[in-house]
Amino acid sequence: MQIIAHRGASGEYPENTLLAFAQALAQGADAIELDVFAVENELIVIHDAKLERTTNGQGSIYQHTLAELASIDAGHGQTIPTLWQVLQLIQNKCWLNIELKGANTLQPLLTLLQRAEIELGFDLQTLLISSFNHPLLNALKAARPAIRTGALTASLPLHYAAFAAELKAEAVHCDAGFIDEKMVKDAKARGLKVYVYTVDSKDELAQMQQLGVDGIFTNYPAQSRQFLGL
Ligand code: G3P
Ligand code: MG
Repeated sequence: MQIIAHRGASGEYPENTLLAFAQALAQGADAIELDVFAVENELIVIHDAKLERTTNGQGSIYQHTLAELASIDAGHGQTIPTLWQVLQLIQNKCWLNIELKGANTLQPLLTLLQRAEIELGFDLQTLLISSFNHPLLNALKAARPAIRTGALTASLPLHYAAFAAELKAEAVHCDAGFIDEKMVKDAKARGLKVYVYTVDSKDELAQMQQLGVDGIFTNYPAQSRQFLGL
């Protein structure tokens, strides 16, 4: 079972910050999940388009310049990182799930990955790009078929994992509140990995273990590993 640090070790540190990602690595997470938006064609790592919940800034990220966003406090003196900063930190130390939040993220991502492959020796095989925006995933796959994708759903779709297979995804990313045995069976029959968000409690972790999912997104990587007996 893969332990994927959801927004980093975000249960204990400010989510989607370099600190939370460094702590996830220190806690032995197999992977890190993070969320990105594009501002001035640069990918920044933040979950909400609005600044209030996780920072001392105000309003929409799109009302600010990149320089202004870089000066905002995201908690514990951390800043809103750029994806480039995160790639430099991770340096292939674990696999990475980049969740595309903004619709205008595709071109900046393709440009950034090309740079990361050249300058950082970044291995594309350690990457999984996910989104709730399925046309965006489709466009990504068409532009660069070698990039592996994860199809997100916050529902139990009528035809189970068929949508993820149609997207030629590597994995289906399911909401813990909806996933069931049929979904897992269907995904596996289609050769898809099953990753489930967000799983922190002992009971839910045991339930996911019983369902035989391939990985869980958790805010507490070390604790979840311990609960799972890994
Ligand atoms: O990628 C899994 C999970 O992060 C999706 O939901 O809202 O936490 O980004 P959210
Ligand atoms: Mg996410």
